[in-house]
Amino acid sequence: MPKEKIQGILDSIKTNIITTNELDKSLYRKMDYESFKLTYIQRSKILRDIFKRNQKLIEELHEILKEDLTKEVANSLYEGYRQLEKEEIHDSFLLLQIIDKLIPFYEKENDYSKLLNLYNDENFELSIFLMINQEKIDKIKENIQKTMALKNHYEELGLNERKIIYYSYYNFMSYLPNYDESYIDKMISIYKEAKAFYHSEAVFKMNDQDLARREMNLLNEALLHNFMYYLDDGLCDQMEFVRIIDEIKDTFEDEMDRDLCYAVLTYLNDQMDDLEFIYYLENYHDFFYQDVLKLSFNESKDEIYVRSAKLVDAECILFDFLKHSYLPDNTKEEVAKRIITKALKYFDRVPKDRYTRLYVEEATSRIVKKALPFSSNADLKEKLFTSLILRRQELNYVHSQIVEKIAVAILDSMNETRYPLIKDMIEIGFWDFADLKGYVSRSARLHDIGKSLALGIVNQQIRSLLPDEYHNIILHPEGFQSIIEKDKDFKYYVDVIKGHHKSYDGKSGYPKDFDNTKSKYKLIIDLITIADCIDAGTDNYGRNYHDGKNFDMVFKELKDGANTLYNPDIVSYIEQNGNLMNELKYIVDDYRMELRYEIYVK
Ligand SMILES: [Fe+2]
Ligand SMILES: [Fe+2]
Repeated sequence: MPKEKIQGILDSIKTNIITTNELDKSLYRKMDYESFKLTYIQRSKILRDIFKRNQKLIEELHEILKEDLTKEVANSLYEGYRQLEKEEIHDSFLLLQIIDKLIPFYEKENDYSKLLNLYNDENFELSIFLMINQEKIDKIKENIQKTMALKNHYEELGLNERKIIYYSYYNFMSYLPNYDESYIDKMISIYKEAKAFYHSEAVFKMNDQDLARREMNLLNEALLHNFMYYLDDGLCDQMEFVRIIDEIKDTFEDEMDRDLCYAVLTYLNDQMDDLEFIYYLENYHDFFYQDVLKLSFNESKDEIYVRSAKLVDAECILFDFLKHSYLPDNTKEEVAKRIITKALKYFDRVPKDRYTRLYVEEATSRIVKKALPFSSNADLKEKLFTSLILRRQELNYVHSQIVEKIAVAILDSMNETRYPLIKDMIEIGFWDFADLKGYVSRSARLHDIGKSLALGIVNQQIRSLLPDEYHNIILHPEGFQSIIEKDKDFKYYVDVIKGHHKSYDGKSGYPKDFDNTKSKYKLIIDLITIADCIDAGTDNYGRNYHDGKNFDMVFKELKDGANTLYNPDIVSYIEQNGNLMNELKYIVDDYRMELRYEIYVK
């Protein structure tokens, strides 16, 4: 009986996700404004229905996961979730819940085949959620190590599971160092361990030499692509790296890689200067760029993924090298600009759907992080972020635009009526009103920048949040934080980004360890918080997880929360200015829908 029940629950979740995807796609069709509006409202109705239905399903699933697993239940859960993985239905947190329950069960059973799939799937689901923190890195590392350890059972495994062991070496080298630099030191020893294993008796016995050779080629590529970690003089690893690279230089299957290998060696032997090398790397990159421009997107998903990954790899190599090179800043900026323009041109062509979303978001966020230091001012940096990431995240994009519009409307009105608070705001340290307004506008546009990394869960529309998801959502004011704090142009916005979910009195909200009441920008944080709540609270068609509220209902909440949650001066100012109130009502109603039309259809 539980078998059918579990199958039923997972099947329904799958159908609901597919329906949602179709509904989302319907918004991009060419149509007039009235049809768009109808489509949007209709979509919202259906999503609300799905949301309610899924609620029940998730509760049922929870009941099942609460109990100790019997073999029958465990097997049904395993079969069921694997099916979702195979069909690329990545409701990550839901899958993670199931996987986390199954791992200890099968560890006790010593079911190596299942375990390998579980470790591998868990790592995949963890990695597509882009807000990677130390806890996740540790988990991923643990899974990789457990996978590697199972190579001792190589001969007992099926082909797919044997492949997972190879992936673990690859992931260790190409994934972990990106997030945690301490893994750079271990790269060469892991590389050697893998090589020894690929030539081992076990691989030979299973007649897997071809497989091992292909995988070795990928590892060679990964090592080569990480050459920038060995550029700094004085690292004893550099000699070891050069020795290995020299040894493998003629083994690459891909001509481009063989070529890159020779270039890297020439550069490391001081026979090529930085400018020549960057010129070489741009050509290398252009080869893959021209290749993806030929994609018609009717190719198989794997094919698209592999070719795009090559491009993104080449982009990352370029940016990493720029970081290490001694080229003048303006040269670096020019090179970066050329790469970004090309990246934009490519990603603009990628159709918007659930399948592409995963890799596009991973790729673009990686590129933005690497490219940010090479844009010379805040305008260019914001443009980079908006055009590469935010522009593909319509819900977030509309939200940031509306929050800006609301905040500026309040500010303009206060300025016209010479409300004293404006003077206090300017005195924070702005030159004049225009300077203040510029700061507020950008703060509003950037306030949710951290969300762009947690999109998959933040905009969860078809079921309520799981506890783990909520735990991750409250991290969003800190996503991108390390990058923003270190950036000379963005660091001024850190307080607003961090503080926009804190209460006026600082006693509630998140993050806990940030004291907004002590911030120099307190008044601006207060203003953005109010603008944020007005948009989020009234967005009945965009946010299908909350009950519809109109402007008056939301405004009543602001009034009730004045002094504790919201700045009372701003709330009472809005209340006493009928014109402003009407403007805000227009912004969250007709204006928002028109903006959506612009963004989705045009
Ligand atoms: Fe937020
Ligand atoms: Fe927000």
